[in-house]
Amino acid sequence: MGIPVLGICYGMQLMGYHLGGKVKGEGRGEYGMATLQVKDGSPLLKGVQASTRVWMSHGDEVQRPPRGFQVMAATETTGVAAIEDRKRRLFGIQFHPEVKHTAEGATILSNFLEICGCRRDWNASSFVDDAVEKIRRVVGDGRVLCALSGGVDSAVAALLVHRAVGDRLTCVFVDNGLLRKDEAAQVRKRFAERLKLNVVFVDATALFLRKLKGVTDPERKRKVIGREFIEVFKQAAKKIGKVDFLAQGTLYPDVIESISVKGPSAVIKSHHNVGGLPKSLRFKLVEPLRELFKDEVRQVGLRLGLDEEFLYRQPFPGPGLAVRCLGAIEKDRLDLLRGADAIVGEEIRAAGLYRELWQSFAVLLPVRSVGVMGDDRTYQYTAVVRAVESADGMTADWARLPYDLLGRISNRIVNEVRGINRVAYDISSKPPSTIEWE
Ligand code: XMP
Repeated sequence: MGIPVLGICYGMQLMGYHLGGKVKGEGRGEYGMATLQVKDGSPLLKGVQASTRVWMSHGDEVQRPPRGFQVMAATETTGVAAIEDRKRRLFGIQFHPEVKHTAEGATILSNFLEICGCRRDWNASSFVDDAVEKIRRVVGDGRVLCALSGGVDSAVAALLVHRAVGDRLTCVFVDNGLLRKDEAAQVRKRFAERLKLNVVFVDATALFLRKLKGVTDPERKRKVIGREFIEVFKQAAKKIGKVDFLAQGTLYPDVIESISVKGPSAVIKSHHNVGGLPKSLRFKLVEPLRELFKDEVRQVGLRLGLDEEFLYRQPFPGPGLAVRCLGAIEKDRLDLLRGADAIVGEEIRAAGLYRELWQSFAVLLPVRSVGVMGDDRTYQYTAVVRAVESADGMTADWARLPYDLLGRISNRIVNEVRGINRVAYDISSKPPSTIEWE
């Protein structure tokens, strides 16, 4: 096609193979950190140090590049770590520029944009203008419905649509009784009062608790919650009257699936996402964030008046506290969990660790143990603190929280939440564990 191409890892091998080079497995592979020795004169590697740290993950390698290609970099293990045919503007790199372990990956990607002649004129405001215009064009004088989950993606999608069609957008927020402490009230304040969205609040707490009564199996819980949500949403939509479009906060990673933030455990746990309503609802979809990554969605959200604290919230699973309240779900136990979870949140924020951690929360076990408070024997529940570091939720490591912080969290939970007399800290990584307990 005569356009610049950058082949990364397997992409470079594919390029090498198709254009007549030689690709072979030597049986040794190269995994993890490597030092790249860079030759002068490559437009792709311009500005990169002569010796730079990169991240490798490959078994096969290009042994002989195709005709017209020059080798521009090597590591100790891989003689051909970067190739290019400057005339045809074809480039290949064996390492991964997109991971943060590659020290100068961003420079390399930026060089490629230069080679492509990209104008780099994307910014949150121009995106908002374009998106609003597009939504107006698509929706015409139709009406739009949006399920607000309380999370960032659906919020930003709703605000964009609101800017485009105003009151012809109606949002539905379902309180399933599995939300964190004060969450429903915060949603009301933020979206209905401050941002002036038209939000229908459905209090389905009693219904969800009834349907979940006696359900202890994690998969059953997830299925029940997913099903009930759709039912409640359908009923609410019916009351609103004729609606033509459904706005969803689908992001680019959801579109390309393979790097979905849900991670490989999507097949291990049935995911419930407010965004993924079934096709049988027969709405036409409006998905203004389809081409954005999470950090871009945050920038757009900021432009639309959302506060930073909200935009940088840690992920919260669709089935909510149900998957953190092990065993049977009852109102009393959910309240204990909410109390413990709020304390974890407060202390993590106070320690300045909230944004650094991928997630930090409390889990309530269905196990009681003996304790002593004052002169009294107690026989109460155990809370677990879970805090993990992760880049995308697919793999995670337990966070090495300072002992003092853990001590404070434990003290406060046992003192302030009546019904919990013991706190444990989860020191498992993913894999083999998962982040959520169910
Ligand atoms: P696991 O527990 O599988 O979780 O390690 C990985 C990440 O996904 C989140 N999670 C969900 N997110 N709907 C969601 O939108 C769900 O049903 C769901 N289940 C888990 C979890 O919080 C973690 O960030």
